[in-house]
Amino acid sequence: MRTIETIQELKAWVKETKGSGETIGLVPTMGFLHEGHISLVNKAKAENGRVVMSIFVNPAQFGPNEDFDRYPRDLERDQRLAEQAGTDVIFAPSAEEMYPRESQISISAGALADVLCGAKRPGHFDGVLKVVAKLFHLTEADRAYFGQKDAQQLAIIESMVEDYNFPLSIRRGETVREEDGLAKSSRNVYLSEAERREAPLLQQALQLGKQAAIEGRDPVSVVRQYLDGRISGEIDYIELLSYPALAKEIEGEAILAIAVQFEKARLIDNLIFHVKGN
Ligand code: PAJ
Repeated sequence: MRTIETIQELKAWVKETKGSGETIGLVPTMGFLHEGHISLVNKAKAENGRVVMSIFVNPAQFGPNEDFDRYPRDLERDQRLAEQAGTDVIFAPSAEEMYPRESQISISAGALADVLCGAKRPGHFDGVLKVVAKLFHLTEADRAYFGQKDAQQLAIIESMVEDYNFPLSIRRGETVREEDGLAKSSRNVYLSEAERREAPLLQQALQLGKQAAIEGRDPVSVVRQYLDGRISGEIDYIELLSYPALAKEIEGEAILAIAVQFEKARLIDNLIFHVKGN
């Protein structure tokens, strides 16, 4: 496995790979890898000749009071895990390499970013689209892999690809969880012991909420009541929306999503399912 830090070197690898007729699967990450990321590599390996993983803690998607500086980083460990999983290339550029100058043109996530995390993190998804659009162009990927754990991100990226005819397909990966149901996340390391014990309640609450929604009851109040007094973190939102349109009117699939701010970590989780009668 090779680690590439410059765009020039990446482009040379892409040219050589495409020249030999191989397809390229891209797994964009911010590193501090866990089994969620690795499951995306496995999927990418099964569907492409070569797999490139990007590891880049993207400053453009962090707000001024967010955790950019203390986002966990460990490139050596990531290299080991990515290699074990069969990644061919890690692309780990510096911020200067990715953003050599202030961009004149911005990409906006639009109304899809007005709900859920987008409503709480202004500009976040614009920053995600900025880096993802660049990665799609730089890697010339045939397929790019994103997890449903970040369901709003996935929906927004799918929308950009469709609206602007990006020549690749977006592939969805299921959320990988700890044994107790907690969705794996690089930020879980920032939970205190007590918070770590509370964290699986989010998924339990969503399961109860899903059941309620299917039975025609209000899932949001079910989730809220279940968590009330049982978690120390503060609930940022609990919402039921259509998926992937993220509209209040539910047709087809629905997403029941939650975000909770614990002391040092903000956790998100969701379930995507069909509500009966739709
Ligand atoms: P990051 O949080 O590192 O996640 C990278 C990818 O792994 C995303 O597609 C995310 O949805 C997926 N992922 C995270 N936890 C997962 C889990 N438990 N199960 C399955 N997949 C999981 O998301 C980002 O980075 C960034 O916003 C990025 C897309 C790289 C742009 O900077």
